[in-house]
This record gives sequence, C-alpha cells and structure tokens, in this order.
Amino acid sequence: MSLIEEVKQRLDIVEVISEYLPLQKAGRSFKALCPFHSEKTPSFFVFPEQQSWRCFGACATGGDVFSFVMKKEGIGFGEALRLLAHRSGVSITTEVVSDGAKSKAHHLETMNRLATEYYHDNLLHSTETEFAREYLLSRGISYESIVNFSLGYSSRGKDLLLDHLHRLGYEPDELVSAGLVIKKETGKYRDRFWGRLMFPIRDVKGRVVGFGARTMDDSPPKYLNSPQTHLFDKSSTLYGINYARDSIRRNDLAVIVEGYMDVIMAHQNSFDNVVASMGTSLTEKQIGVLKGISRNITLALDADAAGEMATLRGIETAYQSLDYKVTPVLSSQGIVRYENSLDAEIRIISLPQGKDPDEVIKQDPQEWKLLVESAPTVIDYTFSMVTAGQDLAKLETRSSVVNKVIPLIAEIKDKVRRSYYLQKLARLVNVDERSLVEIMRQAQTLRKRSPSGVGKLSANHPGVSITKKAQETLPVMGISNSLDRYCLSLLLRNPVLKNHIDTLSPEYFEGSENRELFRAWYEYDDIEELRVKIDDVLRDYLELLIRSEFPPMNEEERKEALDSCIIRLKERQLRGLLKVSEETLTAEAQSAGASTQVELNKQLREIFHHKAAGKNAERDNF
Ligand code: UTP
Ligand code: MN
Repeated sequence: MSLIEEVKQRLDIVEVISEYLPLQKAGRSFKALCPFHSEKTPSFFVFPEQQSWRCFGACATGGDVFSFVMKKEGIGFGEALRLLAHRSGVSITTEVVSDGAKSKAHHLETMNRLATEYYHDNLLHSTETEFAREYLLSRGISYESIVNFSLGYSSRGKDLLLDHLHRLGYEPDELVSAGLVIKKETGKYRDRFWGRLMFPIRDVKGRVVGFGARTMDDSPPKYLNSPQTHLFDKSSTLYGINYARDSIRRNDLAVIVEGYMDVIMAHQNSFDNVVASMGTSLTEKQIGVLKGISRNITLALDADAAGEMATLRGIETAYQSLDYKVTPVLSSQGIVRYENSLDAEIRIISLPQGKDPDEVIKQDPQEWKLLVESAPTVIDYTFSMVTAGQDLAKLETRSSVVNKVIPLIAEIKDKVRRSYYLQKLARLVNVDERSLVEIMRQAQTLRKRSPSGVGKLSANHPGVSITKKAQETLPVMGISNSLDRYCLSLLLRNPVLKNHIDTLSPEYFEGSENRELFRAWYEYDDIEELRVKIDDVLRDYLELLIRSEFPPMNEEERKEALDSCIIRLKERQLRGLLKVSEETLTAEAQSAGASTQVELNKQLREIFHHKAAGKNAERDNF
C-alpha cells in the first residue's frame, strides 16, 4: 500500500479536524464555524463517509484531510503527510532516507527550510523577539533585508525547534543529521541554536544548507555555524551566492567580503555582486563555486597586516584554482575549446583601519563604490605592500622583495601579463629581467602543486528508478483515483498541454496528492526539474504516473483527451458537491445551500449539453 493511502486509511478526518476546532454533529456530517474565514453561522462541513471537508461559505473550497492540515498549518503537502503519518504511527523516515543520496540531501534540505521558516516567523511575529528586531534595525538592516535574507531568531526555551519539527514528523536523530539538534551525552536531544540571530546559508540554487547564528549577549562563539553535514560544507560555500549570482555574471566581477552582515548591508545598498567567505580565508572550493560565473574577483580585506599576509596565501590558492585548471569551455559555436590562458584577475580592497565593509557602506556607499572601482590587482597590491617603507637601495631588501613577488608572478599563465609584471619588478629592484626569469623557473620547479579539489564530477549520480514500493502501489490505488491518474499521466507526458488547461481547476482532482502533483507539474518546466524538486513523499507516485502504460496519441488526440478529462473531472466534482450539499444543508444553512444547489445544478446541466453536442470524442481508456 502506498504511504499516502496508508496514512489516509489510518486516519479519521473527523478526529483530526476536531483537534483544531469544535465540530457539531449535523445529520450524517459535522459542522463548525469555518476556520478559514470569519462567519457567524457555520458553513464549514466535514463528511465522514467521503472523508472530506468543505466550506460552503466565502471560501467555497474543500478537500481531504491533507488539504485541511496544509491550509490550517500553512504547510506543504509533504509536511502535512509527515505530520499525519507521525500522528497515525506510520513510519516514513526510513524509506525516504534510504532512497539514495539525492533524496537524502532533499530530506535535509526540507528540514533546513522548515527551520528557516520557523526562525523567521519567530523573529517577525513574536512579541518576545522585539529586541532582536530592534537590534537589526539599529544596525541599519531594513525590514526588506530581514525578509529577503530570511533572517530569524532562535528563542531560548524548551527546545522549540525540536518540538516543532518533531510534530511535523521528523525524528530527533534526523534533526541531528541536519545539524539542527544535538544529542547530549546523557542521550537527551537539545536545539543547537539558542537565543541567536539566525542567518540561513543558501547554496547557489537558493536551498538552505546551513545556518550562521550570531550571539545576542556576547556569549561565545560570536557566530555559531551549522556543523558539516551531508549538505553543508562551510569551506565550499559562499554566503549570498544565490542572491549575487546574476549580478556577478552581469558585472563579470564577484566582490568577496568576510561577514554575513557585510553581505546584507551591501545588497541593501544595491551592491549585489557581493558574497562572503564567512570568516575563513578564501578556499579553492569557494573559488570553484564562482567558476563559470565570473573569473574576476575582488577581495575586501581588513587593514590588519597579519590578516593581509594570511590572505595572500589564500590568494595564491585562488590564482591556482582559477589559472592552472585547463578548463573546457563551450564557445558560442558550440565547440569545446580548452582554456589555459589567464583571463582571471584578482583585486584587493584594503579596508580603512578598523572598519568592516558593513560600516563603510553604511557610512558612505560612494566610498565603497570607489574602493571597489579602484582596487589594484593582487600583484600591484603586493608590489606596493612589500616595498612600502623599504629602502630598495639595500641589496637584502631587494632580494626579499623578489622572493615575495616572484612566486605570485610565477602563478600567471598568461605570457603577456607575466612579462609585464616581470618587467615591472625588474625596474623596481633594478635587476636584469633575464635573471628574474631564471629565479622564477627555479621557483616553479620547487613549487608543490596542490591537488585540485575543484570541478570534481560526482561519480555516482544514480538515475531515478522506480522503486519496488511504487510497483506494489499500482493495483491498490483504487478505482476512484483512476480518472485523476489518467489525467495527470497525460499532462506529465505532455508539458505543452499547459496551454490548454484554462478550464481545469486544481480542485477537480480528488486527493491532495493529485492536486499537489498537478500544482508541481504546472510550476516546473520539465519532468527532470519536477523529479528533483518534488517532495520525497510524492516521488514514487510521480514515477508511477510517468511510467504507467499509455495509449499512443497524436497532438490533436491529446488535446481532445485532455478536454474530455477536464469535463469528466468537473462533472465528478459537481456531482460530489451536489450530494454532500443535499445531505447536509439543514435549516440553518438553508439560504446558502439553496443557492449553492441551484448553481451546481446549472453547471451540471451545462456539462450535459456540452457532452450531448458530441464535441468531444470520448476516449474510454479510463
Ligand atoms: P565578523 O566578526 O566580522 O562578523 O566575522 P560580522 O559578520 O561583521 O558581524 P558583526 O558586524 O560583528 O555583527 C566575519 C565572519 O566570520 C565568520 C562569520 O561568517 C562572520 O560573518 N565568523 C566570525 C564565524 O564563523 N564565527 C565566529 O565566531 C566569528
Ligand atoms: Mn561587522
């Protein structure tokens, strides 16, 4: 039996809904004041026989137990299924997790997303977090930025996130694997983040992979970050990359700062090609993220000399990863050429003493703009740094300058640029250029090339395969579902039908799983994207629909089949509505009910006329 079916079977919609609102018996059904709009007489009904609910009032909508919980809790189908599975004692975690690495990542991603929403909601709407909102505003972070960056707050208290996600069906151990919860030696589970401002860290596609969490009371560490997880590797992540990617491409330049706050303040001031290395010196893997977006990088370094030297080592790595890779590039003619000349440039901004980009930008955005525009290349910068205040008349000074600069020049693959810098150095230290070339050769043979970690192709990328479970589901899905399934199968096979569904309402589908699949099909461009984005719990069902047997049709036939489907679905919905409204509408709801019924009958009549006109060749495959 499919997971969805199993959960449905174990649950009674009346029981579930009565946990949210008081239900009153009314004949064979139950009624209540509608929880989704305000009203004085009940127009919200629950039908135990159909296991469905409906508001006959202003909402004029209804569905099954999943759609009720989705609407009431403000969550998606997957979350609702997890919550209800948990409630009814159906275990879903093991099968979801064992579905391969891809699905595991997806699973972690969902937990992170839910945590993001939870913390964000807490920051925006709780009275207890007003001080945190005020703190951000006092730092000059606007409300829009708080929303754009989904900033949040993790309250102190009784492991609130753990409780929240547990209620949504996540087991403590899964939350540990997502880095959101820690397991104490005593075996007790606790929230990882307490009383901290939460900065969700997103990957280039915008998925939350981890968090940075800033203390609000100076208790160390200043920032507590998510641990390394299946999704999160701090050293290969750039904070803000998802917001900055397009701008980096457009400007052909990435500006790299250190902190979360710096990124947010930059973006708030429309400097939106800014990302953060999150405190560490730039790693090769971080540079790898930028590959294919832009090869020009400007690093904002603090004025602290020690820091500068530390980052110069980082810069060497950066040059190596940009320069020494022979990268296949697809040219506009579609020809692959191998690029080994340097078209990457690394520039340095030396920040005013004691100031963060955050402070510079806040004080004077124009100054920041100037700093970015006038940033020297790393080699020019190094030249001026190593020679500042030095007496170049002294031989030993000259040789120390050469030793510092030559390794950097040796990194340059582009012959023209390399010789430009060699000449420049030769003039500076007053040494014959050919001697410098010799020194450089020696440096090159000595240099140990660091093994590359960039651009590794993930070796095992398992294709989507239909699981045994999905096959077993086939005969059990029930006849009532076959029309929905036929229609969804048709749509999934033919994305172009998106242009022909004007008359198809998601509500025509019975069962939230069908509505959800329809919604996802509509949202995503193609099947591959759908396969990736769809919630784990629906993946088997999706595969089942894609692979079910289907008669071959030409384009015209497909359109006709769709029209016919839509008519049948609509008819079914109207009949269902008519049935429940006749059964349940009592004296109190008389007026609303009467008009509803008249309207339903009118629509049904239209359908009969439509059919009688024989416009639609019926296909009897379902
Ligand atoms: P900063 O101390 O400059 O933080 O560290 P910040 O972002 O400017 O924050 P404010 O302005 O003081 O509030 C720079 C970055 O280093 C990482 C974080 O990514 C931070 O944004 N960091 C710093 C840590 O990961 N852990 C720490 O304890 C401190
Ligand atoms: Mn700062």
